[in-house]
Amino acid sequence: MRTALITGATRGLGLETARRLAGAGHTVYLGARDARRGEEAARRIGARPLELDVTSEHSVRTAAKLVREEAGRLDVLVNNAGISGPAASAAEATADDLLTVYDTNVFGAVRVTHAFLPLLEAGEAPVVVNVSSGLGSLTVAADPPAHASSVPVWLPALSYGSSKAALNMVTVQYAHALPHFRINAVDPGLTATDFNGHAGDRTVAEGAEIIVRMATAGPGGPTGGYFSAAGPLPW
Ligand SMILES: NC(=O)c1ccc[n+]([C@@H]2O[C@H](COP(=O)([O-])OP(=O)(O)OC[C@H]3O[C@@H](n4cnc5c(N)ncnc54)[C@H](OP(=O)(O)O)[C@@H]3O)[C@@H](O)[C@H]2O)c1
Repeated sequence: MRTALITGATRGLGLETARRLAGAGHTVYLGARDARRGEEAARRIGARPLELDVTSEHSVRTAAKLVREEAGRLDVLVNNAGISGPAASAAEATADDLLTVYDTNVFGAVRVTHAFLPLLEAGEAPVVVNVSSGLGSLTVAADPPAHASSVPVWLPALSYGSSKAALNMVTVQYAHALPHFRINAVDPGLTATDFNGHAGDRTVAEGAEIIVRMATAGPGGPTGGYFSAAGPLPW
């Protein structure tokens, strides 16, 4: 039985991914920065709650210690926790706005990956899925209409888009450094969650599809890639 951790799994795509992986027989640690909501969500889907705020080094280290003591290893890590940040135009966005968004979307993923690396090394055919966004593609951002078939909805978002572009580079760097892992970035597509006031045209089941596919890909699966449900995305 494989052991998986999904960060930011109290709701939205993280919760759906946790539900699907638990249903597929994984032992699932449901990461939640709010312990009570984590317990409620975990109880509903048959997962184990794990208090984990990706912006806190102490919280991440404590969570890794608990998983080491309980499970001794981790096979699948899904870095899902993410925030959009303030809706500021590029002209209005400040360095502090970017710091806040990067602390969750970029440094959070690195903090968690780094802390859980020894457990992933102890796991079987380790897999890391970084939940990125089509808004993180430099190629798409350079000419959105030309890539509308890959990323149908493109919006200017300095903090968020650049954080996901950074997460994409983090993904590639880890994939080079850890060739025995499978580490990929994925774009769920515009999905109806609290994240966008449920304005997305995809259901959480549809959005989570590519996350689950990469989390459960066999040892021959890809690494160092960037995928939506429809296939590879341009970086
Ligand atoms: N929805 C979309 O259209 C879409 C499209 C592309 C990519 N994505 C990406 O998909 C991921 C999930 O998005 P979603 O739509 O499911 O968003 P959501 O419904 O807003 O859920 C976000 C989750 O992240 C958690 N979170 C936020 N900050 C955290 C922190 N510091 N530590 C731990 N958990 C934290 C939230 O926890 P709380 O419940 O405690 O707030 C919540 O569980 C994000 O990375 C997002 O960028 C979403």
